[in-house]
Amino acid sequence: ARITLRQLLDHAAEHGYGVPAFNINNMEQGLAIMEAADAVDAPVIIQASRGARSYANDIMLAKMIDALAEMYPHIPLCMHQDHGNSEATCLSAIRHGFTSVMMDGSLEADGKMPASYDYNLDVTRRVADMAHWVGASVEGELGVLGSLESGQGEAEDGHGAEGALSHDQLLTDPDQAVDFVSRTKVDALAIAMGTSHGAYKFTRKPDGEILAMHVVEAIHEKLPDIHLVMHGSSSVPQDLQDIFNEYGGEMPQTWGVPVEEIVRGIRFGVRKVNIDTDCRLAMTGMFRKVASENKAEFDPRKFLKPAMDAMRDLCRARFEQFGTAGNA
Ligand code: G3H
Ligand code: 13P
Ligand code: NA
Ligand code: ZN
Repeated sequence: ARITLRQLLDHAAEHGYGVPAFNINNMEQGLAIMEAADAVDAPVIIQASRGARSYANDIMLAKMIDALAEMYPHIPLCMHQDHGNSEATCLSAIRHGFTSVMMDGSLEADGKMPASYDYNLDVTRRVADMAHWVGASVEGELGVLGSLESGQGEAEDGHGAEGALSHDQLLTDPDQAVDFVSRTKVDALAIAMGTSHGAYKFTRKPDGEILAMHVVEAIHEKLPDIHLVMHGSSSVPQDLQDIFNEYGGEMPQTWGVPVEEIVRGIRFGVRKVNIDTDCRLAMTGMFRKVASENKAEFDPRKFLKPAMDAMRDLCRARFEQFGTAGNA
């Protein structure tokens, strides 16, 4: 059944678990998530980026979510707009059946430059007002995702925001978070603590210098009731990097966010954990494996089925690790 982000995360907070929010662009990813959720009895957040909406088409995405909800009526399902950049994106998502939207006002609408605090506050408050009128939930973001190693802030398209950013911009300020939440009335708050999108988050296994989990604790102390969101939370597991490279890929060694750090975040108010890269890597590793082991194969299903299974296993592991399992 459809459920809002607020309903889902209130339950997660009450019972002390976190919920992975997996991105989808196609049917196979939707099926993989729901199969995993069904196997372990977990509630689901599926999210679509603006890129996903233009790739799959809004009508196709909306009907796909209807189909997944009908196939798994016993699984609570929240459909969320990932990184909305304007009122128009957020409202059109709700019109297409999304029960939750992210208004990411941490960057200007073109996604290139960090926005002013006043811009973020105003646009997020307007979206929250409108979404709440029609019963949808809202996630805001305060602070710019980016690398504490390089000082490179990250634009939402995965390319660098212009210029090097200070730690002040790359780490969410707890006092500003208190002001932001009370004035926007967001249901969930994405914070910046050194993670970034994509596979290349850290050049070494992260420690507290480059993955600032203490910021999560500081914010949770001041805002114990807000649901915190961690973006850029793929772990980029070594075994998935190895499969990708064993079958002809050339991905330089990289490190993601260790699952144990996310689990620690969940003890300090993190309720939504955004994961896209791990799902992509799980799937494309299998494309490479099938392609290199069976060079005559041309039936897409022979690629997509093992890819789907690999993504399902990844999703299932996260449901279990984050304590989502058993809470549907
Ligand atoms: O925000 C980043 C997500 O991984 C979505 O990425 O814009 O390539 O669909 P995308
Ligand atoms: P990853 O690139 O780490 O999977 O992050 C996804 C994300 O934050 C989507 O909003
Ligand atoms: Na989001
Ligand atoms: Zn994100």
